[in-house]
Amino acid sequence: MKNNFWLKLKKPILALAPMAGISDSAFRRVCRYYGANVVYTEMISADGLFYDSKKTLEMLKFDKSERPIVIQLFGKHPERFAKAAQIAQLAGFDGIDINFGCPAKKVAGHGGGVTLMRDLKKCRQIVEEVMKGTKLPVSVKLRSSIKKDGGAVTALDFIRAMEGLPIAAIMIHGRPYENPFNAEIDYKMIKLAGEYFLKQNPKGIFLGNGGINSPEEAQKMIEQTGCHGVGLARGLYGRPWLFKQCREFLKKAKFKEFTPKDIKKAALLHAKFAKEAKDTHGIIELRKHLLWYVKGWANAKELRSQLVAVQSIDDLKKILKGI
Ligand SMILES: Cc1cc2nc3c(=O)[nH]c(=O)nc-3n(C[C@H](O)[C@H](O)[C@H](O)COP(=O)(O)O)c2cc1C
Repeated sequence: MKNNFWLKLKKPILALAPMAGISDSAFRRVCRYYGANVVYTEMISADGLFYDSKKTLEMLKFDKSERPIVIQLFGKHPERFAKAAQIAQLAGFDGIDINFGCPAKKVAGHGGGVTLMRDLKKCRQIVEEVMKGTKLPVSVKLRSSIKKDGGAVTALDFIRAMEGLPIAAIMIHGRPYENPFNAEIDYKMIKLAGEYFLKQNPKGIFLGNGGINSPEEAQKMIEQTGCHGVGLARGLYGRPWLFKQCREFLKKAKFKEFTPKDIKKAALLHAKFAKEAKDTHGIIELRKHLLWYVKGWANAKELRSQLVAVQSIDDLKKILKGI
């Protein structure tokens, strides 16, 4: 394994979890700015890379300041992953993650994402193929469980099936496929699978994910599972500074609330990064984040109608100046 950056990260590790349509280059830069020590891309199609799809290749663009950055690949054809991994390595990523957790119909409905967990042999083949294509550290992201034949395949089963493979890191989302975004977090399964992973890979990194919307919940995940760090996702909507607050809280048991002035600064920084972005996203994608930034403000309704039409940083400056 070449340059295993995972080993250099300060613990507890605070990662931006992959989010399709959300974790674009601009958002990843904002998250790094507020203290994420590693960021994942949204899931990127291994098939798209295998077939040199122009649109997929565009998604590989990132800014140096995002590093360390992990590309997440999804797909279901093991034989296409080695080439996809090669391309990802050439594009300059620091690590390659494989998606074994996505429940979205367009992925899981066709035998990819989380439904791959029902075929652990295939999961192993995919990991092996990625490792054939790259010397970069390879990680996996999976769910606590998925139903199969009247029983279930768990994260622990998955980890057992990977025995002997030098997996650098795992991120376990503690919810089952059957209730993918609202179930209670299964800390017990995260802990069991994480501990087993560490037995097999003593130098491995183990991250817990799911339901972390506050610094207290980040601490709870670490306390309940013994993980090395956490992956943040929806808790970051309109609050990328949650990274800063988690870091403060984990160190000093208190954290500073963000004021509207701090939030304006974050929105402008995000807009600057969106303007500079070279991936497929840009200022239009920024709009949904802007709406999240002002959520709960007294004049949010009026602001929203202006923010959905933002075309430039100057537009945004004008709107924010009036507040
Ligand atoms: C809009 C959205 C897109 C997501 N896209 C991905 C993805 O591309 N790859 C992946 O592994 N997980 C994806 N996830 C799952 C998240 O990484 C995370 O596991 C999940 O949201 C649970 O964390 P949370 O409760 O903190 O949101 C996505 C989640 C959301 C809400």
